[in-house]
Order: sequence, then C-alpha cells, then structure tokens
Amino acid sequence: MFYTDGKLQYPVRVEKPDPVFARALQQAIGGVEGEIRVAMQYMFQAFGARGPVKYRDMLLNTATEELGHIEMLATAVALNLENAPLSLQEEISADAVGGGVLNGMDFRHLLSTGLAALPADANGVPFCASHVYASGNIAADMYANVTAEASGRVLAVRLYNMTDDPGMKDMLSFLIARDTMHQQQWLAAIEELGGAAALPIPDSFPQEQENRDFSYVYLGHMTDGTIPEGRWSSGPSMDGRSEFTGQVSKPLGGEPSLAPARPDGGAQTGQVSKSGMGGMLGQVEGAIERRL
Ligand SMILES: [Fe+2]
Repeated sequence: MFYTDGKLQYPVRVEKPDPVFARALQQAIGGVEGEIRVAMQYMFQAFGARGPVKYRDMLLNTATEELGHIEMLATAVALNLENAPLSLQEEISADAVGGGVLNGMDFRHLLSTGLAALPADANGVPFCASHVYASGNIAADMYANVTAEASGRVLAVRLYNMTDDPGMKDMLSFLIARDTMHQQQWLAAIEELGGAAALPIPDSFPQEQENRDFSYVYLGHMTDGTIPEGRWSSGPSMDGRSEFTGQVSKPLGGEPSLAPARPDGGAQTGQVSKSGMGGMLGQVEGAIERRL
C-alpha cells in the first residue's frame, strides 16, 4: 500500500520557463538514467526480496522516494512549458530566424500532453522496462543500483550545467545530493553483505564446480600477443581467494560444425543435402569431415 500527502519532496521552482530544457529534463524522467528506472528497479527488487526483511524495507522506502523524484521532475517539465509557443506564428514572430524553440522542444509536449511531462526520454522514446534490473540476488542487485545511481548522477550534473535558472539549479542540487546518498547506501549494503567476500556472485554456487583454471585469469585477445596490464592481471584477486594472472587467449575448441538443415525447415536446397549447390557443398562436406 502506498500513501501520499500531495506535496513535493523538495521545492520545484522555475524562474524562466524554457521548453527546450523541459525536453532535456525528460531524460531524467523516462531515460535509461532516469527516475522511472530507479523507482521501478527498487520496487521490483523489493517485491521479490527473499531473506532478511530489512533489505525489502530499505528498497521499498527508496523506491517510494524515487516516485517523488518523478513527481518533482514532471512538475519541473510542466513549469518549464508554461510560456511555450503554441503556434508556429507565435514562435516565428518571437524569433527572426524562426522556429528555434519549436524545433528544439518536444512536439508531444504541445500535441499529446497539453504542456505536461511524458513517461519518455529526451528523444520522446517511451520508458523501456528492459532497463529495470531485479535479479533476485541481493548482491547483484546492489551493484546494479550503484551503477544506476552513478549514471543518474552523471545525467543530473549535466542537466545542472545546462541551465542557468536558479530554481532548476536548486532542484537539481537536491537530486544530485540524493544520488550521492543512494550510491553510498547501496555500497553500504554491499559492505554489510560481506563486501568483497560476497564475491563471486552468487556465493551459493560451489567454486569447485566451476573450471577454476579460468576463474582468475585475464585473457588477452590482441593479435600482437600483448596484454593490457593492470590491477586485473596481477596481484591478489578481489575476493582474496586467488591471484590474478594474464595470458594470451588461445582457441581451446575446434570450429563449430552443425548438421545440414532439416528438409522441412525452410532452408535452401544446398543447406539440406551434401549434393546441393556447389559452394554450399564444399562447406557442408568440410564441416562434416571436421566433425568426423
Ligand atoms: Fe532519484
């Protein structure tokens, strides 16, 4: 169950409405880095949370806060659209070059919403729920959340630098601060889950069952045989369970070899039998020979 008191989490003030900035703000609502994404991500992680209930509670509280951020940004979009030109003539008369603002703004703010926000990004692409990560593994989800807050803060900083409206800068300074806290919060949860000792994720799978020859080796794929050296190619592994090494990757398997296509599978004749098309014949035979 959710409650609201109808008030904004933080004041939203626009001194100089700017319909082009309204479009830019859409990225923070419905973009990959936006508030719908984190609200849904934390919400679905909470809905599926198993184990200690405090993680579910923490996620739900922050998911609810993120709903409030959508509300703030949607309000900011609407306030930035208050002086938007509603006709081409209006815009052209205001600007000798003609169409400057109209060309820069999202037409759907005029045509579809009547000067209000959309659940879409700055290019008008509707929010895509594929960006919502909720794996059922608390550690994996916490790392995904750090990334979400990091890219969200990058976007908020870019928006902050894009505007000189004091009200918008004030609102964004609050959102940037919350992104700071949320990065800290997810990292704190990771520490509580054991930090590096929680690796590799999932820690419930016995490492004896993985091919341990390859667990801590950085594989180089450069044709000249060089390996980009770094923390990842030498020294103790992050989980403290082994040592990193670096080596040039070599093919350990042969060429893939598939059987001819099934006769009723809609393939070309030459794909179906060995006596098919000339070029195809050689390839199929070669593949079969290699397999034998
Ligand atoms: Fe947020």
